[in-house]
Amino acid sequence: MKALCWHGTGDVRVDSVPDPKIENPRDAIVRITASGICGSDLHLFDGFMPTMEKGDILGHEPMGEVVEVGAAVTNLKKGDRVVVPFTISCGSCFFCQKELYSCCDTSNPNAEIARKAMGHSPAGLFGFSHMLGGFSGGQAEYLRVPFADVGPLKIESGLPDEKVLFLLDIFPTGYMAAENCGMEAGDTVAVWGCGPVAQMAIKSAWMLKAGRVIAIDRVPERLEMARTQGLAETIDFGKDDVYDKLMEMTQGRGPDRCIDAVGCEAHATGSFDAVLDKAKTAVALGTDRAHVLREAIMCCRKAGTISVPGAYVGFPDKLPFGAFMNKGLTMRTGQTHMQKYMKPLLNKIESGEIDPSFVITHRLSLDEAPAAYKTFRDKKDGCIKVVLKP
Ligand SMILES: NC(=O)c1ccc[n+]([C@@H]2O[C@H](COP(=O)([O-])OP(=O)(O)OC[C@H]3O[C@@H](n4cnc5c(N)ncnc54)[C@H](O)[C@@H]3O)[C@@H](O)[C@H]2O)c1
Ligand SMILES: [Zn+2]
Ligand SMILES: [Zn+2]
Repeated sequence: MKALCWHGTGDVRVDSVPDPKIENPRDAIVRITASGICGSDLHLFDGFMPTMEKGDILGHEPMGEVVEVGAAVTNLKKGDRVVVPFTISCGSCFFCQKELYSCCDTSNPNAEIARKAMGHSPAGLFGFSHMLGGFSGGQAEYLRVPFADVGPLKIESGLPDEKVLFLLDIFPTGYMAAENCGMEAGDTVAVWGCGPVAQMAIKSAWMLKAGRVIAIDRVPERLEMARTQGLAETIDFGKDDVYDKLMEMTQGRGPDRCIDAVGCEAHATGSFDAVLDKAKTAVALGTDRAHVLREAIMCCRKAGTISVPGAYVGFPDKLPFGAFMNKGLTMRTGQTHMQKYMKPLLNKIESGEIDPSFVITHRLSLDEAPAAYKTFRDKKDGCIKVVLKP
């Protein structure tokens, strides 16, 4: 089959690789009909994520049709349409029982590498480094889905792929990010980033009764989408000082809830910490560019909440922990506990409350994926979200 493989920083290629096979009775094989490219994939493309190996198949946002199931999979059958969440979870360990699916204790076969890096291993993820399981991803024609009796969500309503595709990552991720704010009705929520995850977080903040949403980015079409689709007020961080602007907009109090939907590759226009991050990450002395996390801590109102869906990979430094402590802030974060959110959010799509496909700007073939990674990373051609149709 054809699959998009990682060959090094900035180098992904469509290779011919062996078709996946059932390896475990709880596996299923899915023929992919649509597969997103995510901001998280850029962390791999840009070389931020350790333990990638040449030939690794990328992609963690796939949906498609079941073509084969293992003997222990009784909830799916050949021909079913499914969306496959990016987290791989066993469904029965201590964490899965508490619906903390992205903390699954059993799905990462390389848990020892992750334990050394993080103290404990999170769940295995599709197409996301050997530290997180070394599982082949879904930017391919076929995908092996482990624990297929727990992960995939069946789509029985005949809704087109594009409407339900984002149940496999960014809609639940944006929703959990808003939920993690612990919002009170009427709160002001500031969202850093206007990428696809942020767009979903903005919509979700309104669903959870925000009073005001302020979105921050510098890419004009992304800011525009936050205004028109997300009904957010916006700040262009390329033009305005974000702290000053947020204080002006909130009479000096600061936003009640802050969402960092940017993560480890934040840009900043010349601020001292950002210049330092850039220099350190360029020579591998730093792991993350954490400008947004620092800024959110400084901007958040006292006793407010910071929710971090943005991905961090290592040891971001110069975090103003003194401010965090003395202002009495709370922080919540995590890879999304996908299986907890997929069904309830499917109901919201089916009832017409939201159609997440509004973020799609590019529909391309798998062969076009290497070019699409560059277009998406460089924010060229108005690119906000790419869907590959293998
Ligand atoms: N927690 C999870 O389970 C989960 C799931 C999916 C994605 N993610 C992470 O969420 C983040 C966003 O994903 P995405 O697909 O929207 O990515 P994206 O790269 O499309 O969007 C990031 C946006 O941040 C903006 N940005 C950069 N620096 C900024 C700054 N200083 N202030 C404000 N905005 C800034 C960029 O211009 C861009 O529009 C990534 O880190 C991704 O890895 C996490
Ligand atoms: Zn993703
Ligand atoms: Zn588990």
